[in-house]
Amino acid sequence: MKKVDVVLGLQWGDEGKGKVVDVLTPNYKAIARFQGGPNAGHSLHFDGDSFVLHTVPSGIFRDGSINIIGNGVVIYPVILAEEIAQIEAKGVDVASRMLISKRAHLILPTHRALDAASEAAKGKTKIGSTLKGIGPAYMDKTGRNGLRVGDILQPDFAERYETLKAKHTEMLAQYTYQYDISAYEKEWFRGIEVMRRFRFVDSEQLVNDYLKEDVSILAEGAQGSLLDIDFGTYPFVTSSNTLCAGVCTGLGVAPTRIGEVFGIFKAYCTRVGSGPFPTELFDSTGECLRSVGNEFGATTGRPRRCGWLDLVALKYAVMMNGVTALIMMKSDVLNDFSTIKVAVGYEVGGKQLDYFPYECSDEVVPIYKEFEGWNCDICNVRNYDEFPQQFKDYVAFIEAETGVPVKIISVGPDRDETIVR
Ligand code: GDP
Ligand code: IMO
Ligand code: MG
Repeated sequence: MKKVDVVLGLQWGDEGKGKVVDVLTPNYKAIARFQGGPNAGHSLHFDGDSFVLHTVPSGIFRDGSINIIGNGVVIYPVILAEEIAQIEAKGVDVASRMLISKRAHLILPTHRALDAASEAAKGKTKIGSTLKGIGPAYMDKTGRNGLRVGDILQPDFAERYETLKAKHTEMLAQYTYQYDISAYEKEWFRGIEVMRRFRFVDSEQLVNDYLKEDVSILAEGAQGSLLDIDFGTYPFVTSSNTLCAGVCTGLGVAPTRIGEVFGIFKAYCTRVGSGPFPTELFDSTGECLRSVGNEFGATTGRPRRCGWLDLVALKYAVMMNGVTALIMMKSDVLNDFSTIKVAVGYEVGGKQLDYFPYECSDEVVPIYKEFEGWNCDICNVRNYDEFPQQFKDYVAFIEAETGVPVKIISVGPDRDETIVR
């Protein structure tokens, strides 16, 4: 019996999950998203083309792949329909290779209005949400009010939509926020019609049948471990379990059926939105990381906050996910830095810590170890042996600290700019 392998982000998202899933897909028959929704933006580059996927699994461009939107995902039909149209424009028959769980929840236009109203009301303490309605949709899921994909097939779907919308309208009346969803509503129902062309499935059954039949499955995480609702930098997090545990609840897979866990991290660190970020740089080095790394959000276009690699946080994420293999992304972005720093500990209130604490606030002062940079272009390296010694020292240190091998290294956005050890 097969196990589900997992790709997930170990930082605050945007580690390069889309690229890695696209690279790994030839080894798998099925690719499944298990949590999150259109707050995700997963970039793929190949054959001179580029795409940003929000809801559709990143295996979609590979012939013969099956792409599953799992029960743990929340779907905004408008964004999904737009993505489908873009992929179909490239000649891919999306309906023949994508399945949607009947248990996945729908994001309503009023969820988006609630997200915006809540953020506006928070003022300076706002989370920096992508405003895709993620939080309100998951609130309705846990509050047992949500609309699910399977409901689309019920005769009273429109009525149920109206009931939930009425509840949201009452909630919105508590805010001063001005909104008009009439235009959004029309496209929302058009999106629902697009979704009807797809197979709605009991994906938990399908996934487990696949495992029994030895069909290989790769679960594609969204966001990152430090945005996890339970273990991230709460309240500056997203509303789902982004950790490996989310695969179990978001696909219906038993913990004993989890196989390889690929943990992805950037050779440095970024965050978009508010919240603590101990190694954030506010100087020209941070700006340099942003411009060289082109660190602007794939979903919102917002500039990403940039800083050095944080090994305290990375070790925490490795522990919480049971990572079996590390994947280091955007190594090329550090090409021209004469010194590279890595946080190996924290100082909080005069005390030194070597783990990621509950009190991870702006008060945390990182303790750095310095490395000599490699000061050369590594974009054309395709064999590990060809990397400069300084680069190998950097990788070896990360492996020694985390206790996990770095099995894949990315030196550029393209599929081909990847070194598998
Ligand atoms: P995801 O959300 O984890 O899929 O990551 P995003 O797509 O939001 O952000 C990663 C960005 O880095 C995208 O623009 C990728 O094209 C780009 N990227 C991925 N790997 C590399 C790499 O190794 N080097 C460089 N320079 N860019 C990369
Ligand atoms: P991918 O999958 C980076 C961040 C937002 C905000 C917080 C809550 O592309 O890595 P939400 O919209 O979920 O209510 O926002 O989480 N965030 C992400 N940051 N990458 C993402 O996805 C993100 N999805 C949400 O910026 O701080
Ligand atoms: Mg992204």
